Amino acid sequence: MTGRRANDNWAAGDAYDAYMGRWSRLVGRAFLDWLAEPPDLRWLEIGCGTGVLSEVILEYGEPKHLLGIDPSESFLAHARERTPHPALRFRVGSAEALPVEDGQFDVAVSGLVLNFLADPARAVMEMRRAVHPGGTVAAYVWDYGEGMDMVRLFWEAATALDPAAREHDEGVRFPLAAEAPLAALFRDSGLEEVETRAIEVPTIFDDFDDYWSPFLAGVGPAPAYCMGLDETARTALRERLQSTLPVAPDGRIHLNARAWAVRGDVPG
Ligand SMILES: C[S@@+](CC[C@H](N)C(=O)[O-])C[C@H]1O[C@@H](n2cnc3c(N)ncnc32)[C@H](O)[C@@H]1O
Repeated sequence: MTGRRANDNWAAGDAYDAYMGRWSRLVGRAFLDWLAEPPDLRWLEIGCGTGVLSEVILEYGEPKHLLGIDPSESFLAHARERTPHPALRFRVGSAEALPVEDGQFDVAVSGLVLNFLADPARAVMEMRRAVHPGGTVAAYVWDYGEGMDMVRLFWEAATALDPAAREHDEGVRFPLAAEAPLAALFRDSGLEEVETRAIEVPTIFDDFDDYWSPFLAGVGPAPAYCMGLDETARTALRERLQSTLPVAPDGRIHLNARAWAVRGDVPG
């Protein structure tokens, strides 16, 4: 199963950054290192959200220009404010019907987006269409099923308290978020020289509150689930997490997050 649900709630930029943006930024840097694209290219970013990866592309990719596309007006407002730069433009749009002409870009990327789409195959075809022959299409998504500890531990606690929570678990909802399905998605879209790469980043929380409070803003699937619980159930979930998360002697919580990255060349 893939696809966005209304209660995934991509709207509040600050809350998104505290919950997920800070970790996506770390993956974005490793992703750009891996792509090793030369400077001065024309970049397209799908599902740019609050501009986390856009900012990394500006820093590391030195683009000629970068167009970021996302359906969330409020995320884009946040992105514009975060990264005012003459090379950077943002536009409202959807991955499945990109508002761009054929072959106008050298590279099309997306970070943490493909699994949320109703039709990821169509989105990859659209990215391919937007890039000229010989250009690059690439993406990364969290390994929700196994390697993204922050979210994995949340759902383990939630389903231990209520087995019905399993249907909201991103590890269950998003089978695309794994190495083989991503590679198949890219190959089936006609991309060539498809490669995958695991990207692991440390997610270190100052204390339990640093881990827990972003869930209370309700932005993203797990926070939306958390805020849909009544007060008693949410307190039980907090207490279960508090008693199971590995707290270091200095009070910090050291977790890991793995993303799967995939890239391919547009034929021709
Ligand atoms: C987890 S966020 C990732 C944001 C950003 N790329 C990052 O790495 O932080 C998922 C993003 O996908 C966007 N999104 C959801 N449905 C989309 C669609 N059909 N087309 C393009 N983007 C979409 C959301 O608005 C949100 O900004």
